[in-house]
Amino acid sequence: MKGVILAGGSGTRLHPLTRITNKHLLPLYDRPMVTYAVEALVRAGIDELMLVTGGTHAGEFFRLLGNGHEYGIDRLAYGYQDQAGGIAEALGLAERFVGRDKVCVMLADNIFQRSLAPVVENFARQEKGARIVLSHVEGDEHLRHLGVAAMDGDRVTEIVEKPESPPSRFAVTGVYFYDAQVWDVIPTLKPSGRGELEITDVNNWYVGGKQMEADAVDGFWGDAGESIDAYYEVNDFVRRNAVNE
Ligand code: G1P
Repeated sequence: MKGVILAGGSGTRLHPLTRITNKHLLPLYDRPMVTYAVEALVRAGIDELMLVTGGTHAGEFFRLLGNGHEYGIDRLAYGYQDQAGGIAEALGLAERFVGRDKVCVMLADNIFQRSLAPVVENFARQEKGARIVLSHVEGDEHLRHLGVAAMDGDRVTEIVEKPESPPSRFAVTGVYFYDAQVWDVIPTLKPSGRGELEITDVNNWYVGGKQMEADAVDGFWGDAGESIDAYYEVNDFVRRNAVNE
């Protein structure tokens, strides 16, 4: 299984910090944010990675990660997104790198307390389709800034992006698993209201075809790019607790 780390976007929710650097290079406690996603995937056994970024600070990722060997990456490729066209568009740049293999996609601002290894193993065993990682989130206001899964027992029946009335307490985190059908889905997407190709539309394609599985993870999960308060909440957590364990 290949890994794709998405570290682009304009980071407007963290302006003006993100006028002088890429969001994913901002510090989380004692190291740049993106290194947590690298660690999460490497510890879960994925060591062929592509990092997709964009904007004006792309060169800094080379300086930080180099060929990846210091981080336990066996092969590290880089992709460059010309404009902030959304998560699904950024993923499309990884098609040739991933080929017909399975892929684990991770947003570089997501931090998990627990290891992703069990979820990666579940997808390795899954015959086809996609898999998402859910986290229990209390508070409607928080859920309104995320993708939220409508559930029927253990099954996801729909994912609603930034819902006014959250259909459950299960937030869709920024870790996604796909088979090679994803490369046929991405070109069919239309830009959303925010002018982006949404990963939620990719996920709902799999949900509609009854090919979507989900795991709910225990422990802390945070999206450090969601707001300045979320950024500090994640910082406080990683300063006091081990993550990716
Ligand atoms: C994205 C996804 C959303 C998901 C979130 C997790 O949101 O669109 O479904 O819950 O990542 O980090 P964005 O950060 O682009 O607003």
